[in-house]
Amino acid sequence: MKERLLTLKEEALRELAQVENQQQLADLRIKYLGKKGPLTEILRGMGALSAEERPVIGQVANEVRGAIEEVIEAKQAAYNEAETNARLAAERIDVTLPGRPAARGAVHPISKVIEEIEDIFIGMGYTVAEGPEVEQDYYNFEALNLPKNHPARDMQDSFYITDEILMRTQTSPVQVRTMEKMKGHAPVKIICPGKVYRRDDDDATHSHMFTQIEGLVIDRNIRMSDLKGTLLQFVRELFGSNTQIRLRPSFFPFTEPSVEVDVTCAMCGGSGCRVCKQTGWLEILGAGMVHPRVLEMGGYDPEEYSGFAFGLGVERVAMLKYDIEDIRHFYTNDLRFLKQFVHL
Ligand code: DAH
Repeated sequence: MKERLLTLKEEALRELAQVENQQQLADLRIKYLGKKGPLTEILRGMGALSAEERPVIGQVANEVRGAIEEVIEAKQAAYNEAETNARLAAERIDVTLPGRPAARGAVHPISKVIEEIEDIFIGMGYTVAEGPEVEQDYYNFEALNLPKNHPARDMQDSFYITDEILMRTQTSPVQVRTMEKMKGHAPVKIICPGKVYRRDDDDATHSHMFTQIEGLVIDRNIRMSDLKGTLLQFVRELFGSNTQIRLRPSFFPFTEPSVEVDVTCAMCGGSGCRVCKQTGWLEILGAGMVHPRVLEMGGYDPEEYSGFAFGLGVERVAMLKYDIEDIRHFYTNDLRFLKQFVHL
């Protein structure tokens, strides 16, 4: 019986030495150590042995079992380790690999200029108002002292939606809406940035949609000098502290008197260049003292209150500030153009 055990051990170790994968190893474990295996069979037959033989054979059987188990465990451990290593290798993250850069947007130059101008006026105590782009004729024209058949309506070819509704041609209707909302209270101190629409043929300096910033101040004792001082302070913050302004008489139906406001050319400092057509001046906004009729229609007694208003073209300011030669660049969304403003 001892012989049988030792042969069994040899056979098992030989077979185990040739194992090529985990399945074969599992099969051999069952074959040699399983309930129906030869070792179990031998141990079962021990009852038939004599009392002297039994402990001797029992010891040999245990040794054989131990030896076979040891080899199987060692092989299993090697497989386990190889498996773990393979998984770790597969899950390995290379932390030195550079990340994929996220595509980064930029604030549109028009939005940038709007924000900058808002900041300047907020610093002077103004609040920012808004109004609809689809507007009633009443707010866009009538309440701004442009009654039906007024010749100044010809100055602005409009996109009409119905007889009474149009795309606003200016941000000035927000003056009227603000006065209505304030119900005669003072002071009124607002600016309003927004898109406006006109039936223009698009070219390098004209666009059927563009951006304005409106300003309105109403209080007791507001004078032309307040307008001038406010605008001077504004352009100096926007274009630099040496900037001068020049007021030229003009006409707008909703202001009296009305002015057009020039600033010293930001390109040449006033000495004359291509941008200012050698004049040293650039026209950037229209302004004036709010017409008494407009105050009255807005619910303010012109005997008690006065005010000033102004309207500025944002594209023109942005074109001057960033030396952009064609207004259409703002709306065609060419990334080569827009990317230049990422770091400004
Ligand atoms: N609304 C005028 C325009 O579109 C600009 C303007 C001029 C606005 C004078 C004003 C103003 O508030 O006082 O041409």
